[in-house]
Amino acid sequence: TLQDQVEALLAKMTVEEKVGQMAQVTLDVITKGPNEYVSDEPLQLDPALVKKALVQYHVGSVLNTANNRARTPEKWYEIISQLQNVATKETRLKIPLLYGIDAVHGATYTAGATFFPQQIGQAAMWNRALVRRGAEICAYETRASSIPWAFAPVLDMGRDARFPRLWETFGEDVYLVSALGKEMVDGLEGDDNNVAGNRRVASCLKHFLGYQVPQSGKDRTPAFIPETELRERHLPSFKAAIDAGARSIMVNSGIINGISVHANHDILTKLLKEELGFKGVVVTDWKDIDNLHERDKVAATPKEAVKLAINAGVDMSMIPYNFRFCDYLVELVKEGQVPMTRIDDAVRRILTLKFELDLFKTPVTSFKNYPEFGSKAFEQSAYEAAGESITLLKNTSNVLPLKKGAKLLVTGPNANSMRSLNGGWSYSWQGEKVSEFADRYNTMLEALQKKAGSDAVKFVPGVSYKDDGKYWQEKDVNIDAAVQAAAGVDYVILCVGENSYTEKPGDLHDLSLSANQVALAQALVKTGKPVILVLNEGRPRLISAFEKDVQAVVQTYLPGNFGGDALAAILFGEINPSGKLPYTYPMYANTLVTYDHKPSEEQNKMQGMYDYESDFAIQYPFGFGLSYTTFEYSDLQVDKTVLNPEESFAVSVTVKNTGARAGKEVIQLFTSDLYASMTPDVKRLRGFDKILLTPGQSQKVTFTVKARDLAFVNKDLRWTVEAGDYEVSIGTLKTKIQLSKTHAFAN
Ligand code: IFM
Repeated sequence: TLQDQVEALLAKMTVEEKVGQMAQVTLDVITKGPNEYVSDEPLQLDPALVKKALVQYHVGSVLNTANNRARTPEKWYEIISQLQNVATKETRLKIPLLYGIDAVHGATYTAGATFFPQQIGQAAMWNRALVRRGAEICAYETRASSIPWAFAPVLDMGRDARFPRLWETFGEDVYLVSALGKEMVDGLEGDDNNVAGNRRVASCLKHFLGYQVPQSGKDRTPAFIPETELRERHLPSFKAAIDAGARSIMVNSGIINGISVHANHDILTKLLKEELGFKGVVVTDWKDIDNLHERDKVAATPKEAVKLAINAGVDMSMIPYNFRFCDYLVELVKEGQVPMTRIDDAVRRILTLKFELDLFKTPVTSFKNYPEFGSKAFEQSAYEAAGESITLLKNTSNVLPLKKGAKLLVTGPNANSMRSLNGGWSYSWQGEKVSEFADRYNTMLEALQKKAGSDAVKFVPGVSYKDDGKYWQEKDVNIDAAVQAAAGVDYVILCVGENSYTEKPGDLHDLSLSANQVALAQALVKTGKPVILVLNEGRPRLISAFEKDVQAVVQTYLPGNFGGDALAAILFGEINPSGKLPYTYPMYANTLVTYDHKPSEEQNKMQGMYDYESDFAIQYPFGFGLSYTTFEYSDLQVDKTVLNPEESFAVSVTVKNTGARAGKEVIQLFTSDLYASMTPDVKRLRGFDKILLTPGQSQKVTFTVKARDLAFVNKDLRWTVEAGDYEVSIGTLKTKIQLSKTHAFAN
């Protein structure tokens, strides 16, 4: 069996060889010449350095350097083959290497690969099948690039609009994140879990646990998360993905509740490996063992940091720039400071993954066996996904769709940028190395020119991004030129938002849209022309300074390479929009709140203090999005009104397309626990479905909900349902059910 093979190999290994398997170096450590980021020289492996890593230090894994550029599948084949040749021919035990990469919305470091919308856009589709399809394509094209391991999906909660990685999440709701995370794992790994078929990759769940919600809103700063909240809101998505068979997990880089997660035995071993029974590989984030010493100051020396992390439960160390991890860990084992059983546990997990991925038999997969790479069918799916993600947030007097033959002014810094359509982790870490591939795809401007005819489209950016500088810097501000160009057009298509970024470089001081862009918007609304505001942003930048004065608002998120085409099709009515917000769009800097808040967030409203400025002011609610048709909901029914904690109930509703166009509708089921021993959230999502209805067509949609699904984590950290009334709602329809008794579930 596979387990016997692992044990047989393990029995032959020296401590040094075992420790080497636990090490992952970045490509920069084994290449010649300057970093690709600063040089145009094509990447070349340095044979001496490759030998040092793989033969002398027995290194078992390599990852892409974040700043590397994208390369063709042929070039990937060449690089991975060279590495695997050394690993499988020149090392004593001939163990293949495990190459990992940030393939997050497609094979993002491969030229010509198919990019879906980033995860936040995929969440806005509310379409499980399409998320799975995107992940299948990503897996296929990653394998076509000879790489078997993708650092995806991100299962963190996107609950803080300020956070620079919000767009990498599936949004603010735990049910939605869990449901779509499971689809992504199934798509990447295969729902038959057949990663050995060479069409799938190992997934890597990120970032365990409690990342993305630090107090300051800035990356890698401390978070304080009560254990009830950690278990109720942050853990379920990981549990669902682990239950779906996910094979690896990456650790949260930050500090939660005062403890660096990389040094937290309670989280990495007791919770993850023991309680959740996770059998896969636990890998650190970038340089994070060193960070225990250098940044977090919990280890007095780098060696102490290795001891803390490995004893906490880390199996593999992402060590970008040196081999001292290996030296220290060998010493620690010999000194008895890290038990051999811990090392064996880690290596067993790593070898199991290598066997499961079939790397011993097929260490490298050739692009020649992947004829569908970059195919029209894949691109069509990415276009469909972009079309389903784009969310219509405002459409005064049905200004959209645009009339055929309309004359347009297209303006704003995002109008003619491929970089901002794709966002970070696209061709390079910050998404800025797009230029080599830009000609293959259409920006929003190019797509609108194709759709409306170049003569009908004027383009004056008004503001541009400074692509060679920091991502937020702007240049060529000429608002007057844009205002003048508005004369004689029928509509102004104002494309604003953000340039691409990720991680720490994406930290913000101010959530408002940039001052230049606000000024551009304010000047354009004064022209009296109908302004269609197109948002292209990784997080909801505040627009309340001018939103009331624009006629339409369209959120594109980061829609990927076909986002420009999908936007043009939506603006001209060829696609009926069906995206829904996966987060609450805030109105002001002091009104950051999620839909599943406590009733006291709405206190002023509740107490009728109408002459106070409300502390509950949002721009658009979670789950919101308009269509070019209308839907009517009727006949909300539950099949039982009283149930006990072991039972399920069915909720059904009839949805009718009452407009003149076919359209897709997302049906969202919420429940509210009316009274509980811990203040309940005002409502919680418990189910969703997306259906297509032609004009006049109606369909009954049924959800099955377990009483268990209504549970919360109580003060004793037990998932509990309490006796009493629960409101069940779909759209504006409401009904009630009653739980007959209180019950705590075995977790
Ligand atoms: O996978 C990423 C992670 O999400 C952030 N830090 C770097 C890792 C590897 O590139």
